[in-house]
Amino acid sequence: MINSEKIREYFPSLSRIDNNNNQIIYLDGPGGTQVPIQVIEGISQYYIRSNANTHGEFATSKETDFMMDGLRGRVSDMLGSEGPNTISIGQNMTTLNYSLARALSRKFKEGDEVIITELDHEANRGPWRVLEEVGVKLVEVKLLESGILDYSDFKNKINDKTVMVCMGMSSNAFGTLNDFIDIGSHLKDKDCLFLLDAVHYAPHFSINVQELNCDFMLCSAYKFYGPHVSFLYSRPGLLDSLSPDRLVVQDQEAPYIIETGTLNHAACSGVASAIDFISSIGEGDSLREKLESAYQKISNHEFELAKHLYDSLQNFQKITVIGPDFSSKKRTPTVSFVHNDFSPQEVCKKLASKNICAWDGHFYALKAIQKLGLESKGGVTRLGVSVYNTKQEIDKVIEVISEI
Ligand SMILES: Cc1ncc(COP(=O)(O)O)c(C=O)c1O
Repeated sequence: MINSEKIREYFPSLSRIDNNNNQIIYLDGPGGTQVPIQVIEGISQYYIRSNANTHGEFATSKETDFMMDGLRGRVSDMLGSEGPNTISIGQNMTTLNYSLARALSRKFKEGDEVIITELDHEANRGPWRVLEEVGVKLVEVKLLESGILDYSDFKNKINDKTVMVCMGMSSNAFGTLNDFIDIGSHLKDKDCLFLLDAVHYAPHFSINVQELNCDFMLCSAYKFYGPHVSFLYSRPGLLDSLSPDRLVVQDQEAPYIIETGTLNHAACSGVASAIDFISSIGEGDSLREKLESAYQKISNHEFELAKHLYDSLQNFQKITVIGPDFSSKKRTPTVSFVHNDFSPQEVCKKLASKNICAWDGHFYALKAIQKLGLESKGGVTRLGVSVYNTKQEIDKVIEVISEI
């Protein structure tokens, strides 16, 4: 069980109140979560004590090297990867994915096929267009009305020409959990790379990249209680076989080969603290064990609240929830809906007037929103549950929606 009260004490922004003494309810987590004090301190302490560039002979530079190595180790533990050298660091997922796509455009050849999906965020669709410049064909897996990918279409589209499959682990628009385990096993004996976008998944569930037959995985720390830094996991040996855009003066080996310029060391220090914060929710001897145990608790807590939200929304005749129901656990705690009489923007304005942070629109999952005929209606209203949300907050949101 999550001790909500204890967890909330760590997040300074949760105590922000308006002129009427009302607290803010943050349900905007899928766009970026709030950060605990440990992260804020991790960033400030870095600036106070260790601010320097890397690879120098002096104390602050050595401390920076140590911190950066430690961060790669933590992310490796978090993703269950083979070790720190599988983890590259970048500004955000989109930029890392573009760099990877450009590197792969030097490997793939005309006539090769790469699979993307209609459900994915543009950050896992747009970058792959780069491959079309070298004659690679992009093949799109269909999205069904239910907000779930069409898996028979998916498997039909995988053939001898397929050199790569790029899919999200879950949808940031509808909260759909994708069948990436099944697709991973389907690809097992095939000579085909498999990339997973874990950006919307990593805040909610434990990951073991080695069990997924996965070659690349991307995630962003600002979605899991950290600052704006992102990570690319690459299967050992793979990144070294590619030729990413890079300077001749930089390190020419994985994981550094795809990291251009100076990274945001202070933010990286904050990410290390974010991972330590998550692990502190769990129990175990190693960081990995603690993280697994923490994610179990986080998933259960968030699922319960999101299911309560979903069930309550189902009672409103004028509201239609988009995406799969909560009868199976094929869901992240992200609930999106449309209202018969008000646009998502109007709903979000009304929620905002009651201090509730919620997003409206397509959240860059534009194709999915278009496919479900929702673009002209302004997309959806999205409520995302995070570890710091409580039952009382969800009840308050339901009360405000009932007034709408
Ligand atoms: C599922 C998913 N993939 C990719 C991204 C892009 O991440 P970033 O902002 O780090 O580029 C997002 C951001 O919202 C996302 O939700």
